[in-house]
Amino acid sequence: MNKSSRLPGFYKLSLEARVAVVAELAGLTADEKTILMGEGLSPAQANQMIENVVGIHALPLGIAVNFLINGQDYLIPMAIEEPSVVAGASFAARLVRDGGGFTTSSDEPVMIGQIQVVDVADPWAARFELLAQKSRLLQLADQTDPLIASLGGGARDLTVRVVEDSPSTSPSSCSGGTSGHRTVGPMVVVHLLFDCRDAMGANTVNTACEALAPEVENITGGRVVLRIISNLADRRLARAKCAIQTDVLGLEPFTGQTVSTRIVEAYALAANDPYRAATHNKGIMNGIDAVAVATGQDWRAVEAGAHAYAARRGRYTSLSHWSVDADGNLVGTLELPLAVGIVGGASRVHPTAKVALKIVGVKTAQELAEVMAAVGLAQNLAALRALATEGIQRGHMKLHARQLAIAAGATANMVELIAGRLVAEQEIRLDRAQELVQKLSTLGEGLSTEPILSSSKGPSRLGQRPSANDF
Ligand code: MEV
Repeated sequence: MNKSSRLPGFYKLSLEARVAVVAELAGLTADEKTILMGEGLSPAQANQMIENVVGIHALPLGIAVNFLINGQDYLIPMAIEEPSVVAGASFAARLVRDGGGFTTSSDEPVMIGQIQVVDVADPWAARFELLAQKSRLLQLADQTDPLIASLGGGARDLTVRVVEDSPSTSPSSCSGGTSGHRTVGPMVVVHLLFDCRDAMGANTVNTACEALAPEVENITGGRVVLRIISNLADRRLARAKCAIQTDVLGLEPFTGQTVSTRIVEAYALAANDPYRAATHNKGIMNGIDAVAVATGQDWRAVEAGAHAYAARRGRYTSLSHWSVDADGNLVGTLELPLAVGIVGGASRVHPTAKVALKIVGVKTAQELAEVMAAVGLAQNLAALRALATEGIQRGHMKLHARQLAIAAGATANMVELIAGRLVAEQEIRLDRAQELVQKLSTLGEGLSTEPILSSSKGPSRLGQRPSANDF
């Protein structure tokens, strides 16, 4: 994007005004604006995508602002139901922007396909033979996707592992007995490394593995079982880094220095304790998944890859690292597998995903992966700053209170009143919201009588959203 993504007060605009700003910045057509306003995936299109379709399941699509990545501005589309995520990303991106923005890098888009071979008489000799015939196998794999090959992708390498251990398949040994003990035996596992360019690559890699399987059986004399992509895409890593001047981190009564220290302390637990690491990484994935969903990615694959990578050394740990550099800046880094695509799959079929891709404006899948890594790091920073200071409940509860007010049938004019009251009373419950709706309804005067939930124009009339921090 040529213009700045620093959009102070974006959150205060009406929904229509926000769409107009984004349309202007991203060059959206009138049709694309209509898609954002609810004319997205049609039932007929949905019916072509999966089986037994009975409807459409929608999510809010928000835009995180302020992102400066490698000197370039980005608007970040995020599809998520959880309050505070878009605000948190935007706020953290603003802090990082003040220190020069995010820097990112990524590996070539190489995925791993696995071919599992069992019943091999001599696994190590079979491994030797497979490697000796590597170039012929790679040539064969290359022929399976001429389009990817014409775009500069294709088979890059082939490695072979021998997995010596396999679990017992005999029920008696599972329950402690020893009779009839049987295992699958050692397995030969071929890894086909395939550059998928701008595709996520599952179809391409699975096709190539299936094509190689008969040849692998010939060479090894074994029997192929699985031929499938690995979601531990550790050849396709994306990285993001940021450095934040401590003075911008302050939050009354905490000084920036204190916040920085406490963020590093909070990170230390995630680095050493899987119980905390799971939640820490969940916060990172709040951002990454929201972009993945918005842009039509296979977010389950992204999730699987992230968590497997977090456990790659045999103990589950934090995906990010936080420390203080020699100049006293708080420095964060994040590295994880990001198997995402901008061609094929839902990213090119789902109307809203297509618009979201246009909004984020990436030219390659690698660029999208780097943007997502930056969003994950921003989300992690926002969560750690809140947790290390006032806790997340205060900001979260304000937004939660609004949702309860809406669920209780509040009209547009009532929402802020009721949410404010619930927070002040520290009674953030649906039954209390319903009581307040009833009370206000009997007072009536000056209040719209149309409940937000039954109003097609409702959300656009919400206008300014309360937020823990101005972002
Ligand atoms: C909530 O969705 C995410 C957090 O729990 C992340 C974290 O604890 O770091 C706030």
